[in-house]
Amino acid sequence: MHDDGYFDERVAARYDESSADMFAAGAIEPVVDFLVELAGSGRALELGIGTGRIALPLARRGVPVHGIDMSEAMVARLRSKPGGEAIGVTVGNFATTTVEGSFSVAYLVYNTISNLTTQAAQVACFQNVAAHIEPGGCFVVEVGVPGLQRLAPGETFLAFRVTDDRWGFDEYDVANQGLISHHLESVDGKLVRFSMPFRYAWPAELDLMAQIAGMTLRDRWSDWNREPFTSESTKHVSVWELPS
Ligand SMILES: C[S@@+](CC[C@H](N)C(=O)[O-])C[C@H]1O[C@@H](n2cnc3c(N)ncnc32)[C@H](O)[C@@H]1O
Repeated sequence: MHDDGYFDERVAARYDESSADMFAAGAIEPVVDFLVELAGSGRALELGIGTGRIALPLARRGVPVHGIDMSEAMVARLRSKPGGEAIGVTVGNFATTTVEGSFSVAYLVYNTISNLTTQAAQVACFQNVAAHIEPGGCFVVEVGVPGLQRLAPGETFLAFRVTDDRWGFDEYDVANQGLISHHLESVDGKLVRFSMPFRYAWPAELDLMAQIAGMTLRDRWSDWNREPFTSESTKHVSVWELPS
């Protein structure tokens, strides 16, 4: 049986609904505009394509998109949407899976680089991307800045969401650069818990991974609208390029 990882049938069935804010037009349009520009007349490769949140609107803008994802359950949701059948997907680990052809842009959004929970796997991911993009092509990553400035000495938990029916806490393991995101949700009167491990990395560590893979930093923004990245930024959108 195929291993869907953490995004198994149970998670996939509720993914779009539970990430509803990320599916809002205001969250998607700037991402797609950004990627259309970088793709130019070339193809785009999405690592962790999921249910097609970004791939489908990007394809509708005329960019040929191919995806990699380890979760058959997530990809089945993509397939069931209008236009989903036309998007090629290779099922496998995006740190190591190879696909045919080359791409002008590869992208990994919504903190998904951190789903690789070892440094070796993250380095392998950058190397895999470099092997797939054309000279002059780009790799775009959207990921949070580790919340270490908010973590008091000796504390391990940071709340990232507290509402009437949903609660989220990140549990930091600073010595190992690990964190577990705990999601609790009230569904039909029952408390449902889901916890997922991540490996966080400072932006400079990702720059070094890019350098190991032969890429250099072109831009780093604090969001998809190209606001400057500062000491207060809580996430970054970074673009590395493979030299021409
Ligand atoms: C947070 S979802 C993001 C999906 C989509 N990119 C989006 O923005 O909505 C992460 C996706 O990455 C996939 N994924 C996580 N780790 C992976 C890995 N090592 N190899 C392949 N897919 C992976 C999961 O199956 C899931 O579909």
